[in-house]
Amino acid sequence: MTTARIVGVGMTDFGVHDRPLAELFAEAAFAAVDDAGLETDAIDAFYLGNAMGGQTERDTHLAPTLATHVGVAGVPCQRYEDACATSSNAFKHAVRAVEAGQHDVVLVGGVERCTPVTGLETPEMTSVFASAAHRQYEQPTGLSFPGVFGLLTTRHMHEHGTTEEDLAAVAVKNHRHGTMNPRAQFGTETTVEDILEGPIVASPFRLMDCCPFSDGAAAVLVASEEAAASLSEARPSVSVAGVGHATDVVPLSDKVDPTATQSARDAATQAYEEAGIEASDVDVAEVHDCFTGAEVLAIEALGFVEDGEGGRAAVEGTTALGGRIPVNPSGGLKAKGHPIGATGVAQLVELTEQLRGDAGDRQVADAEIGLAHNLGGDAATTVVSVLEVAQ
Ligand code: COA
Repeated sequence: MTTARIVGVGMTDFGVHDRPLAELFAEAAFAAVDDAGLETDAIDAFYLGNAMGGQTERDTHLAPTLATHVGVAGVPCQRYEDACATSSNAFKHAVRAVEAGQHDVVLVGGVERCTPVTGLETPEMTSVFASAAHRQYEQPTGLSFPGVFGLLTTRHMHEHGTTEEDLAAVAVKNHRHGTMNPRAQFGTETTVEDILEGPIVASPFRLMDCCPFSDGAAAVLVASEEAAASLSEARPSVSVAGVGHATDVVPLSDKVDPTATQSARDAATQAYEEAGIEASDVDVAEVHDCFTGAEVLAIEALGFVEDGEGGRAAVEGTTALGGRIPVNPSGGLKAKGHPIGATGVAQLVELTEQLRGDAGDRQVADAEIGLAHNLGGDAATTVVSVLEVAQ
């Protein structure tokens, strides 16, 4: 069986983009094609991540539409939607198809517009996002995603003594990292004091504990070892060492341990086993910090810190650039932005650049193994991917 490699990456800036979805996607896709040093006719499949196009773009057949715009119509195309884990799931299927010998070069893209350029302001977009919560038991209560993660985080605070200051330290760290990422939506520093003065969105989260609404696109090209070897002009490729994908029950009320994010634990176990590594082998991680509390839960689920100690990690510098396990050097969803369907692939773009040594001021020294953790809905879907410097 061949090992899948990432041979090209591209993404747009994340932020507000008042232009059509197809144009946004094409910018990322063509950047990835140029980065790989290949022609679009080498692509033999296209897997797209887009979570909400049916509601936000009034477009329910996006994969062939976007394929048309980037000149790859004719190859098999499909769209994946798994809330915020959407494009990681597209990536997993591309990796499996390449490993199985079904395809040689697959374009994996993610794209979403979530800002008022869609015609939807914050209340309406919050309601669109909330459609990823349980239809019968949660949506009728008015539960939004700041509320979902607010409840999980409140429980963590109750059980482990995590404080609002601990949460704010996550935002301070990720905004500091974001200042080194020219593609980040918020490239400005912030302080714990400023964060604690902000308005409450959903307890315990204040404005700066939340990721923003964002527009953006990201793309990677996944290729077989043989196809990668033929790309002599390409940038160095990275290997896909393991991918885990797990789900958990959807309503928060049914979760055995609400702070465990069980799908993340299960996906991480699978990915570590496939890659033949342990959590302590990871040099750099991009994790799903849609809210500060989500990063606290993620680093525990991934085994970077002991259960209950996630709250102190940012305060103590463990997860900062230069720390024991740098988390979200891109700025994460918090500072880089979170265009839902693009987020998972954007994490892989960042890790690929880190493993190539191309990450500029935010480069993690000697990074050889990178991990992406992308979570969807009520922590009900998680995809964990492990990338390695190709041998
Ligand atoms: N982080 C940092 N700054 C933010 C921000 C964020 N998340 N959201 C908005 N801002 C800034 C804006 O740039 C603006 O700054 P300015 O006054 O200097 O221009 C200011 O705060 C107010 O912005 P506005 O767009 O009016 O905020 P809002 O009240 O409409 O929305 C949130 C703020 C936090 C409610 C909204 O971003 C949100 O709901 N985020 C979570 C999205 C989500 O649930 N994603 C899915 C996760 S699973």
